[in-house]
Amino acid sequence: LDNGLMRTPPMGWLAWERFRCDIDCKDDPQNCISENLFRDMADRLSEDGWRELGYVYVNIDDCWSSMNRDEHGRLQADPMRFPGGIKKLAGYMHDRGLKLGIYGDMGTHTCGGYPGTPLDKIEIDAETFAEWEVDMFKYDGCYSNATEKEKGYPLMSKALNATGRQIGYSCSWPAYQGGLPPKVNYAMLGEICNLWRNYVDIQDSWGSVLAIVDWFFGNQDVLIPAAGPGRWNDPDMLIVGDFGLSLDQSRSQMALWAIMAAPLFMSNDLRTISSSARNILQNKMVIIINQDPLGIQGRRILQEKSKIEVFWRPLSNNNSALVFFSRRTDMPYRYQTSLGKLNYTMGSYRITDAFTYKTLTLKDTTNFVVSVNPTGVVMWSERVIMRKRIQVQEGHD
Ligand code: GLA
Repeated sequence: LDNGLMRTPPMGWLAWERFRCDIDCKDDPQNCISENLFRDMADRLSEDGWRELGYVYVNIDDCWSSMNRDEHGRLQADPMRFPGGIKKLAGYMHDRGLKLGIYGDMGTHTCGGYPGTPLDKIEIDAETFAEWEVDMFKYDGCYSNATEKEKGYPLMSKALNATGRQIGYSCSWPAYQGGLPPKVNYAMLGEICNLWRNYVDIQDSWGSVLAIVDWFFGNQDVLIPAAGPGRWNDPDMLIVGDFGLSLDQSRSQMALWAIMAAPLFMSNDLRTISSSARNILQNKMVIIINQDPLGIQGRRILQEKSKIEVFWRPLSNNNSALVFFSRRTDMPYRYQTSLGKLNYTMGSYRITDAFTYKTLTLKDTTNFVVSVNPTGVVMWSERVIMRKRIQVQEGHD
């Protein structure tokens, strides 16, 4: 969507995977969906080095609203859990250089059973969100049929635009249509949405991450052309810092999301996150790769019989990123290859390992070995330092 927003994949925090629909503020005040939770996360984002790295969205998901609209037919936040209201919460974010995202549903109800935003409520709800100074809107798709969605998602795009406020627009539409053509029209989605969920919800497990990785790279030929500045495929939240992933698996999720040019919305508890998980999520080199201004989604280039897979993403200035991923479950695997075998053109390349920051220089013909841990990755960024033919031309100048 060409609204000037999200020219690189959006980054921030989203409540759903970690905090779900916990509305029990009486017995679980620290974790329930309430303004306190979002303020806590905003404090952490602004005080613990996240904001400077680009993590600026603080996004509310389902279960924020009251069970009923107000007397003017407008959505309203649950008065017990959000006593200050959404507009005040947005102000809290803006005061800290952050942005607030909110959630709604194209249908009669949200997936969690709260009031939805069906066709006849689209305008009033878009106006309400703009009046609240919200910066992003996720439009889920429970409780509506395909015909209604086909009308509703473009209509909401128009309605948000008509408010005059810049609001990033996340569409869950394709996830409800199986995520693939002919049922999904990615060219059209790119014109009306900034990002879209293509596939199932992530859960706090390695199996869930793997299933998502399999689907996105299995369908990469359809998905890659859909992505670009202002329009992103969304494989769902980062669960790094939660309970389901080992350290290596956490690096794998971060690395593969960067290769995919995926939105980086963490769903974790930033108040108690371990320093090892934080280091992965705050890895500058991986973030730079994710945020590359060309916005070209990367691809899987090799699936070896040894269960090593290689992923590649072209970056600006002729740079690129490589990920070596092991699906093995035995021990670190010593994978031998050369840049030439990975389709790199003749020349020399400066390699930086994104997780160890070690550097080395390789010619396309040099054989090398990377040791890849079970379910782990090695991630490299490559800078061309010399191309044979360019070198010869320069010699003549
Ligand atoms: C759907 C969405 C999730 C989340 C829940 C909320 O399952 O895909 O991301 O928003 O609804 O109920």
